[in-house]
Amino acid sequence: MARLRLGVLVSGNGTNLQAILDAARAGRIDADVGVVISNQPGAYALSRAESAGVKAVSLPHKGFASREAFDVALADELRRERVEWVVLAGFMRLLTPGFLAAFPQRVINIHPSLLPAFPGTHAIRDALAYGVRVTGCTVHLVDEGVDTGPILDQRAVRVEDGDSEQTLAERMHRAEHELYVDVLARLAQGRLRLPAAQG
Ligand code: GRF
Repeated sequence: MARLRLGVLVSGNGTNLQAILDAARAGRIDADVGVVISNQPGAYALSRAESAGVKAVSLPHKGFASREAFDVALADELRRERVEWVVLAGFMRLLTPGFLAAFPQRVINIHPSLLPAFPGTHAIRDALAYGVRVTGCTVHLVDEGVDTGPILDQRAVRVEDGDSEQTLAERMHRAEHELYVDVLARLAQGRLRLPAAQG
């Protein structure tokens, strides 16, 4: 099979991006990251891309009049790099229907909870506050809702006595890195069961 061409969207630190870059380089994912794009100009993830020799693009959303205009520029940049699958790795923007139509059923996200529990931006804090003893992470296809798309795979993470948001987040990140690499490896090899396309 030909190697998959990925575009990774980021907004922050980029530890998931790093795990993907390392796995691709090591031959554990049959894919190449063609471009990394951040809506936050100072995101450390951009430096990670540059260090790996991957094109890093800063595309500040504040420079655009509307969400739609930003997403058009985003899709253009991804198409320019011949990206087939869009991988969200800590990308803190909702994508518009127009963007999703440009990459139908080909946008993937990772979320730090066992969806459908604890969607939204404070999933780890919310899980701790609720008192669950098991949480985890979810890789899913992105649809127009917030963390609602079809689930591709999940991994459980135990909440330990005395966990703080930080200690749980550290354990969560390790599980995320393993899960994301595993899902992308299976996707690249055609071994991932994808949900049937809607409509
Ligand atoms: C991860 O916890 C991911 O689940 C969430 O954003 C965080 C990104 O972390 N969507 P990093 O930038 O990959 O370190």
